[in-house]
Order: sequence, then structure tokens, then C-alpha cells
Amino acid sequence: MRLTPICIGDTPALLLGPLTVEPPFRSRGIGKALIERAFKDATAKGHKLVVLVGDEPFYGKIGFKRVPKGQMKMPGPVDPARLLVAELAPGAAEGVKGLIRPDWEAVPSP
Ligand SMILES: CC(C)(COP(=O)(O)OP(=O)(O)OC[C@H]1O[C@@H](n2cnc3c(N)ncnc32)[C@H](O)[C@@H]1OP(=O)(O)O)[C@@H](O)C(=O)NCCC(=O)NCCS
Repeated sequence: MRLTPICIGDTPALLLGPLTVEPPFRSRGIGKALIERAFKDATAKGHKLVVLVGDEPFYGKIGFKRVPKGQMKMPGPVDPARLLVAELAPGAAEGVKGLIRPDWEAVPSP
């Protein structure tokens, strides 16, 4: 699982993905646990928002909600129903809008 620093407009956030659990280990709560761990670490570092492109039926159970249409925009074509956001602090997504792009200043150099 990877979390990449991004900006949504001028607001710093994290992009989650890809998230993969090897097939023999699925449906044991590992995916949920990985996301909860990532949320805890991200919160400790002061992050307030996590966005991803994925299946709402899965991620909706773990605190992600659909981004209201037009509020945030990925650079490439993305099904708006799959653009999801989780608030690590209540109300953190309110008023946040704009293009989603890498936050190069926050990306650790190789
Ligand atoms: C999605 C994925 C990471 C979940 O990992 P996991 O360890 O199985 O997750 P959990 O055990 O915490 O949760 C499993 C539950 O989510 C459900 N679930 C998994 N994928 C789902 C999906 N796409 N839509 C709806 N529910 C889904 C499972 O049916 C299971 O339900 P159950 O508990 O009632 O059996 C794993 O299925 C995977 O690697 N899939 C392929 C890659 C992928 O789709 N990644 C997400 C997009 S970035």
C-alpha cells in the first residue's frame, strides 16, 4: 500500500493506492487494518485528508465518501463515482476544491 503526498488545489492531502492484499490472505481484515494503520500514521503526521480512486462499496465501509461532483479533479479521466475522500479530522474536506496534483515539495527524494 502506498500513500503519496498531493495537493487538492492549495490544500495538502494524501493519495492512497494501490492497495493490494494477496488472494490467499483476503477477507481476513488485512485490507481494513492496513487502511486504519495508514490513517493513524497520517493523522500523527498532521494530515487531514486522504483521497483515492476505488470501489465505494469497499472503501465506504472504512470511512471514505464520494467526492461531490466537480469539487476535486484528477488530471486524467476518472469515473466521478470512484473518486473518494476520507476526512481524518471532522469537516476537513469542507471548502477543499481544485485539481489533484503531486505535492513535489513533500515527496521524499529517491
Ligand atoms: C480490496 C482488497 C485490498 C481488500 O483486502 P482484504 O484484506 O480482503 O480486505 P478486508 O478483509 O479488510 O475486507 C474484506 C471485505 O471487503 C469486501 N470487498 C473486497 N473488495 C471489495 C469490492 N471491490 N467491493 C465491495 N466489497 C469488497 C470483501 O468481500 C470482504 O467482505 P466480507 O468481510 O463480508 O467477507 C483486496 O480484495 C484486493 O487486493 N483486491 C484487488 C486489488 C484492489 O481491488 N484494490 C483496491 C483498489 S486500489
